[in-house]
Amino acid sequence: MKVDIDMGAAPAGAKAMLDLEELLATRLLVQGNSGSGKSHLLRRLLEQSAQWVQQCVIDPEGDFVTLADKYGHVVVDGARTEAELTRIAARIRQHRVSVVLDLEGLDVEQQMRCAAAFLGGLFDAERDFWYPMLVVVDEAQLFAPAVAGEVSDEARKLSLGAMTNLMCRGRKRGLAGVIATQRLAKLAKNVAAEASNFLMGRTFLDIDMARAADLLGMERRQAEQFRDLARGHFVALGPALSRRPLPVTIGAVETSARSSSPKLTPLPQPGDDARDLIFTPAPEERRTIIRKAPTPPAPTPTADILNQLTQAKALAQAESPAPTLFPEIDEAERNSLIEAVMHEMLNDPDASFRTDAVLYQDFLVRCRIRRVPGDQLSLPAFRRRLAVARAGIDGETAQGEPWQQALELSKSLPDDVQGVFFIVAQAAVTASPCPSDATIARAYGTHSSRRARRLLTYFEEQGLIVVRTDFTGNRVVAFPDLGCETSAGDPNGPDEPAQEQFAAE
Ligand SMILES: Nc1ncnc2c1ncn2[C@@H]1O[C@H](COP(=O)(O)OP(=O)(O)OP(=O)(O)O)[C@@H](O)[C@H]1O
Ligand SMILES: [Mg+2]
Repeated sequence: MKVDIDMGAAPAGAKAMLDLEELLATRLLVQGNSGSGKSHLLRRLLEQSAQWVQQCVIDPEGDFVTLADKYGHVVVDGARTEAELTRIAARIRQHRVSVVLDLEGLDVEQQMRCAAAFLGGLFDAERDFWYPMLVVVDEAQLFAPAVAGEVSDEARKLSLGAMTNLMCRGRKRGLAGVIATQRLAKLAKNVAAEASNFLMGRTFLDIDMARAADLLGMERRQAEQFRDLARGHFVALGPALSRRPLPVTIGAVETSARSSSPKLTPLPQPGDDARDLIFTPAPEERRTIIRKAPTPPAPTPTADILNQLTQAKALAQAESPAPTLFPEIDEAERNSLIEAVMHEMLNDPDASFRTDAVLYQDFLVRCRIRRVPGDQLSLPAFRRRLAVARAGIDGETAQGEPWQQALELSKSLPDDVQGVFFIVAQAAVTASPCPSDATIARAYGTHSSRRARRLLTYFEEQGLIVVRTDFTGNRVVAFPDLGCETSAGDPNGPDEPAQEQFAAE
């Protein structure tokens, strides 16, 4: 189906049309300095195409939330955990709802993490839901910066990875990236290079002009024309727009941006009361203003203080303990609630391949929903419980001496390999077949058998296990400290998930 979107006016009274289906396959990059009209242009594109294609706007300024009233976009508030955002994104693809991800008010690092989680959810949707979708990212240089900035490396990698996926590998999954940036030179090159359509607005800096000329395959001299473009005027080029550079004037929009350009308004006449206005606090401010520091009390002699302290201590000892303000936390109940939450999470087949940090976020939210009492588990404590849960040890064995010793031994290992250690140790403690490479790999959150074998070698180097192969090529792992060993198991066997049993430590 061919659908042409009217973007505004082209020379000689013609309309500037954009071929929507072609756009889905070839993506779009919009660049122009602040105030050149990029967000207006994106709004025009979104409004004109709203009835034809599902849309998602990654909106760092909260500008596009006004699309909700007229076009039915659902606004997703970015102040959520990353796991939640990923799940919401997956549902969006399934139900084909247009959305605005509102990231206003979050700091840059959080904006990057949220956008990465959300784009990740859109990207990883199941094949059945790969319907076409415009993914519009305003201020794309925030999410795909050309150089490292003040944010953590991890956040930058996540966000840049998600943007690269969107622009380089999104097409097959139905995702069409439409990105806008103030400064081409600040946008990661590989992200910009994947767009085949361009709308170039007013550009001042030589370095941006040079990048634009390179992308458009123009002479640098020709790119000089971008310097003189007025607000709302762009040069269009690309298979969805025009085969030759075409000047276009973006048309009007139906909805308004929440933020607009500053307008000059006349100043009030200077009056005699200007000083009063500035230095007199308003009535509502008065309440919070401390007028004068109170005079400090006369110092108490040290001997008196010591005296008071000994008296207070004697008094406290004589009295029965005061009732506490907070009810005692029932540890058993807390434990069983935590176990129930972990059970819920691990029932998700994808849980093995999510990072512990993502699972931990998910865990905290679930704990809040179930009102688990007491302090929340720290990330290391969570990791350990998760690893033990995944090993699938039953309650009775868990109480036995060998398992307790295995838990003790594992403490010398780095967090991320403890899960693997538990899986093999539980096979030894219960004299079950040695887990296959595939099972060990999953416990480590990978699909690589080679890594699984490397981990066993690592445990062996640490003196924790001895690995041997029997005549039939099956593997046996012995634990000298525990005085037990696994029965023989096929290293190339299938991945067999353990039944989580949630033995408490
Ligand atoms: N084609 C147009 N017709 C009418 N008004 C426009 C047009 N383009 C932009 N404007 C107005 O100009 C102002 C600035 O435009 P806009 O917010 O789109 O700029 P921007 O390039 O996104 O700037 P920034 O990079 O700072 O976000 C807005 O008030 C907008 O309504
Ligand atoms: Mg803008």
